[in-house]
Amino acid sequence: MAYWLVILGKLLAWILLVSSFLQQHFANGEPQVPCFFIFGDSFSDNGNNNNRATVAKANYQPYGIDFPNGTTGRFTNGRNLADFTAEKLGFPVDSIPPYANAADGSVGKILKGVNYASGGAGILTETGKTLGDLIPVDEQLINHQKTVSRIINALGNKNATQLLNKCIYSVAIGTNDYINYYHAHKFYPTSTPSQFAEILLQKLSQQLRTLHQRGARKIVVYGLGLLGCFPYAVKRYGANISGRVDKINEGVSLFDSGLKSLVSDLNNNLTNATFIFINSTGISLDSISGSITVSNAACCQVSELFTAPQCIPFAETCGNRIQYAFWDEVHPTEIAFSATAARAYRALLRTDSYPFDIQRLAQI
Ligand SMILES: *[C@@H]1O[C@H](CO)[C@@H](O)[C@H](O)[C@H]1NC(C)=O
Ligand SMILES: *[C@@H]1O[C@H](CO)[C@@H](O)[C@H](O)[C@H]1NC(C)=O
Ligand SMILES: *[C@@H]1O[C@H](CO)[C@@H](O)[C@H](O)[C@H]1NC(C)=O
Ligand SMILES: *[C@@H]1O[C@H](CO)[C@@H](O)[C@H](O)[C@H]1NC(C)=O
Ligand SMILES: *[C@@H]1O[C@H](CO)[C@@H](O)[C@H](O)[C@H]1NC(C)=O
Ligand SMILES: *[C@@H]1O[C@H](CO)[C@@H](O)[C@H](O)[C@H]1NC(C)=O
Repeated sequence: MAYWLVILGKLLAWILLVSSFLQQHFANGEPQVPCFFIFGDSFSDNGNNNNRATVAKANYQPYGIDFPNGTTGRFTNGRNLADFTAEKLGFPVDSIPPYANAADGSVGKILKGVNYASGGAGILTETGKTLGDLIPVDEQLINHQKTVSRIINALGNKNATQLLNKCIYSVAIGTNDYINYYHAHKFYPTSTPSQFAEILLQKLSQQLRTLHQRGARKIVVYGLGLLGCFPYAVKRYGANISGRVDKINEGVSLFDSGLKSLVSDLNNNLTNATFIFINSTGISLDSISGSITVSNAACCQVSELFTAPQCIPFAETCGNRIQYAFWDEVHPTEIAFSATAARAYRALLRTDSYPFDIQRLAQI
């Protein structure tokens, strides 16, 4: 009797395993929206910086150690924020091309979306200048204009507009404006944290309006994580009693509440579009439980230089990558990105997104 129970148990476990595999890999069917366009920095970049003259690159090992196709230029061990969001929406793994590979070639390549994100980039064009030739948001929008023109040429104005109106647009930006610019170089020595947040939000507001003018009607805007808790920030600026850099976290929280108001304003003013705000800080504070036990150190070996918060080439890595929140000193691990994307897609707490989550945005 007991023997048969064991066999039955094993069989059941096996069936569950197979069905969850099938669900993950085949049950998605068609994506929930026809296309997904991605703007941002290293949290979303999937290889746009690889052939540019910049030090903000991740096209070497151990980056991509857990990615199905290995090293691609993604700034983490596996999939990033944009990858997980795309998958939640039903797009196959790695199916949204980087603009760097999609700018020429067939129009078929760009109809499902393009990823314009560039590691090190910011809202301000000046951000990341010291890292080399990055693609700031203004330039990402110019690249998108080129994509839109190609789609209009291929489909005609009416059909192109209909398509572009149905896509989801993701904007995750601002981390580098704080970490690589405001705090690093003090280019705005006279501005207070709230003035600086206001400068960023005004610029971002223009950028979001430009996106709207290019036909975007469903726009996800990510708030910032607690950048003052990043291992790089603590190493570079020194921790307060909290164990974090309080000044940076205070700046982030001003930016975030301003961003939520901006989203509300845009929804009131551009009534034919829907913008949503994702509370990255709230989500990461709450989902730090789970498998993650280490959130104050990088998983890979990094250089001691302040200017190099990334893994050194062929760096040693921690074996238990699902226990680490940070892959290098500024970039979350795949598991941390996955946790944020899951709740951005389907909110767990009312405070996770505003006015609602990505799942609902896809449906409207
Ligand atoms: C995976 O990498 C190989 C070799 O670099 C490349 O030829 C192939 O196109 C990549 N596949 C995808 C899905 O990116
Ligand atoms: C636009 O879409 C309609 C309906 O799907 C189709 O009949 C028409 O051929 C399309 N026009 C172009 C220029 O592709
Ligand atoms: C945090 O530390 C910095 C540098 O040591 C110090 O100037 C600042 O006053 C501290 N802030 C708080 C809130 O303790
Ligand atoms: C929305 O419209 C109001 C009134 O015209 C204006 O004051 C405000 O700046 C606009 N906000 C945005 C984000 O466009
Ligand atoms: C959408 O709203 C913008 C600004 O309010 C307006 O210029 C545009 O004509 C509207 N588009 C449609 C299709 O209603
Ligand atoms: C983010 O979530 C936290 C906790 O859930 C909440 O305290 C905070 O007010 C939220 N932030 C914004 C900008 O909504």
